Amino acid sequence: MSKTAQIKVDDKEYVLPVMVGTEGEKAIDTRTLRATSGYIAYDQGYGNTGSCESSITYLDGDNGILRHRGYPIDQLAQNSNFGETAYLIIYGELPNPTQRRTFGDLLRQHAAIDPQMQAILQGYPKSAPPMAMLSSLIAALAAYYPHLATNNFENDLKNFDLAAAIAISKIRTLGAMIYRYQNGLPYNPPKDVPFCDNFLHMMFSELYKDFVPSPEVSRALNTLLLLHADHEQNCSTSTVRMVGSSAANLFTSLSAGICALSGPLHGGANTAVVQMLQSIHDEHDDGTRFIAAAKSGSKSNRLMGFGHAVYKNFDPRAKIIAKACDDVLNKLGINDPLLAIAKNLEQAALKDDYFLSRKLYPNVDFYSGIIMRAIGIPENMFTVMFAIGRSPGWVANWREVAANPKGRIYRPRQIYAGPVKRDYVPMAQRG
Ligand code: SDX
Repeated sequence: MSKTAQIKVDDKEYVLPVMVGTEGEKAIDTRTLRATSGYIAYDQGYGNTGSCESSITYLDGDNGILRHRGYPIDQLAQNSNFGETAYLIIYGELPNPTQRRTFGDLLRQHAAIDPQMQAILQGYPKSAPPMAMLSSLIAALAAYYPHLATNNFENDLKNFDLAAAIAISKIRTLGAMIYRYQNGLPYNPPKDVPFCDNFLHMMFSELYKDFVPSPEVSRALNTLLLLHADHEQNCSTSTVRMVGSSAANLFTSLSAGICALSGPLHGGANTAVVQMLQSIHDEHDDGTRFIAAAKSGSKSNRLMGFGHAVYKNFDPRAKIIAKACDDVLNKLGINDPLLAIAKNLEQAALKDDYFLSRKLYPNVDFYSGIIMRAIGIPENMFTVMFAIGRSPGWVANWREVAANPKGRIYRPRQIYAGPVKRDYVPMAQRG
């Protein structure tokens, strides 16, 4: 007899099924609640609501656990790389040598950007926000590859492998292209080198001198992108699923995800953290004054890079990035004062009841910007890096929606709180 939940309202009792996931997560299935009781469930921001069953990523926020297809994030960060983890997240299994080579070949074959598409950039002011340019350029892929973006689940799934490789490879190249354009530098065509090295080449190579990253920089970028690859039903991934549920194609759905990620409470936080650290440094504060202000609770004074909607313990990614930070800066001989301030803030906050009582710990964004600075990536590109890293997760979630035979268009309900019925007032009678 499967478990059920009983709800008693208006002297009537309703029995609802209970769902239990493979990791023991429990849910009350409220899909019949409105039809049987006339009530909907209400959960502003969906923080306590499951929108789907997914097999991609498991998060345990209370215990700081993150696994992709069952593999713990620390093992993937230690042993895998971005390309292999992207394959795992999308296809569900670690690739064998042939699968890994085929996937890598597809990513390299589709790394370049069509000259006509390069011309789109000329239409933007050089000062335009990179995420605004990236979201529109990714949406434009649907125009350049209409046969892969038919807005028909069956057709688009048939071409999924190619569309997925194009999306992941081109988000990376477009990111570098936007950087070059904003700095008045020519587009660097991709080379036949690994994914991350190609990105760094396309960002930093000059006409007569190819940029060849040190092994430390290459490894750090790989780890950074890998750690961002997927993260359950976060704001941008839920957005990709929401848009994909209307049968919108992969590129269009990814463009919506990029828009959601650009917000400072989500993917924009890595930029906000470095700006916060820089302002603390410029004000000759060791962080003490800032921490006091951050406890005011106002959204504009927050300790950016701290707190998380799910983790009420350390974000496991933050620990890995903090260590990678030390490694890269030591190996590159960089002494970034912002790292010392970040460590001060972390130590102070982790002893402060305001943060401890609210279970606010460093999240993925707290140290990631410092690594990107060390690699030479400018602040306004940090969220673009997040998008490049998150692209496999978005692709995998879009595929789950498209391939779900019992899937439905996302259409939440609401509780109306506006004016009740009233009659039209002609202009002559208005005050
Ligand atoms: C990402 O969802 C994901 O998985 C996202 C992500 C991913 O990989 O996709 O992990 C990436 O988005 C990481 C989060 C990046 N954002 C930031 O670092 C911005 C700073 N953090 C916060 O704005 C906040 O913590 C959120 C948005 C991350 C989470 O917000 P919640 O869970 O809705 O928390 P809340 O706003 O309800 O705050 C609860 C309390 C409040 O205080 P009280 O009203 O109880 O007195 O905690 C306080 C808040 O004022 N608070 C903070 C704080 N975060 C929450 N106070 C100071 N500094 C902070 N950072």
